[in-house]
Amino acid sequence: MLTKEQNELVTRTSAGTPMGDLIRRYWIPALMSDEIPTPDCPPAQVKLLGEELVAFRDTNGRIGLLAEHCHHRGTSLFYGRNEECGLRCVYHGWKYDVEGNVLDTPAEPAGSTFKDRMKTTAYPTKEVNGIIFAYMGPQGKIPLFPNYEWAQVAADHCYVTKAYQECNYMQGLEGECDSSHLSWLHRAFTSETDQRLYQTDGAPAYETEETDFGLRLIALRDAGEDQTYVRVSTYLFPCAVAVPVGTKDASGRLDGYEVHTYIPVDDTHSWRFDFGFKRARTVTDKDVHRRQVIGPNFRRIPNAANHYLQDREMQRTKNFTGMVDFLSHDSMATESMGALFDRSQEHLGLSDKAVITVRRHMLDKVKEFQDTGEAPHLVTDPELNVMDHTESTYDVIDGRDWHAHWPHMTSTAQELLSVKDAVPAGR
Ligand code: FES
Ligand SMILES: [Fe+2]
Repeated sequence: MLTKEQNELVTRTSAGTPMGDLIRRYWIPALMSDEIPTPDCPPAQVKLLGEELVAFRDTNGRIGLLAEHCHHRGTSLFYGRNEECGLRCVYHGWKYDVEGNVLDTPAEPAGSTFKDRMKTTAYPTKEVNGIIFAYMGPQGKIPLFPNYEWAQVAADHCYVTKAYQECNYMQGLEGECDSSHLSWLHRAFTSETDQRLYQTDGAPAYETEETDFGLRLIALRDAGEDQTYVRVSTYLFPCAVAVPVGTKDASGRLDGYEVHTYIPVDDTHSWRFDFGFKRARTVTDKDVHRRQVIGPNFRRIPNAANHYLQDREMQRTKNFTGMVDFLSHDSMATESMGALFDRSQEHLGLSDKAVITVRRHMLDKVKEFQDTGEAPHLVTDPELNVMDHTESTYDVIDGRDWHAHWPHMTSTAQELLSVKDAVPAGR
């Protein structure tokens, strides 16, 4: 459990809160590329960390992420005109470039220099494989964009979905760190391969280790005959977890994995961005299966208002929840806690070890940030911008020595460079 004060510290993310200011020090997913697909297309509303923003792609293809409300008298720029390298407010015609400069104030007298003293909030962006990332922290502190493996592959090897979650970001994030729920929440009454592995041992043991990107979370299930089913997830500080999703290739290696990121919309809603990749093939509709359950405005079709389309007959005969897809399972489990769960009311067991470790890490890091102003786990040295050690995967191994099985899963990029021959082929 957390005290009420600790719970407040990690869950509140508006500007000026400790956790909110810390999250603003990282590149975070802001919107999907296809929300603003072409130059001069209509802008998109984006709400992040309690801030109402508008995103647009200008005539030259540059992306702007500005305060939504016009610097003049607050009208929403979402209704504005995206024209000739700028977004123009339709109330009195003020026009902004992607850096927030005011290019024109046509309702002011001719020759006015008023606009030269005006600038609206504008955040730097970076577009990578279908996602537009934003940096919302102080200028002069912008970190390098980490060279994650999914960011290195061709765009058609990458896929992304976005879904609106009706709860605080921490609830979704904690679900990703919690391997034991795989054996229960996601249980289907079959013995096909993945389900058989989940069901081999419903009470996994956990190991955790601190790394330069956050934490490595290892769930170990007894698979019989001195074998262990090992799942490695990686907590990428502050808001993302890489999870082993995919199928094995001919060499027995997982063909890619997914990164699930939870970004606060405000303190009681969040965006779930799932991005995945395939090392050696283009993506298929099957990989992006979640799109079938996500409707307009990224609202899930099964949701709290319709009880996630739960089918009680299915629950008796087919699977644990009576809900069809994993996204509904996870959303039901985390949203039904309430919009912002009071963790002083819970009762944690051994199965919660990974969640406890992640919370402890977040609390430690946010306190350090309060004391020193320094954000942890940033990539600032181009020589050390290698991320293959953040890999998420699973395997059934002899014994329990997963370190020996995956020697490239080091704690730091520096160590990874020293064992780089151990990185599996295919990069
Ligand atoms: S409110 Fe936007 S130009 Fe006046
Ligand atoms: Fe899940």
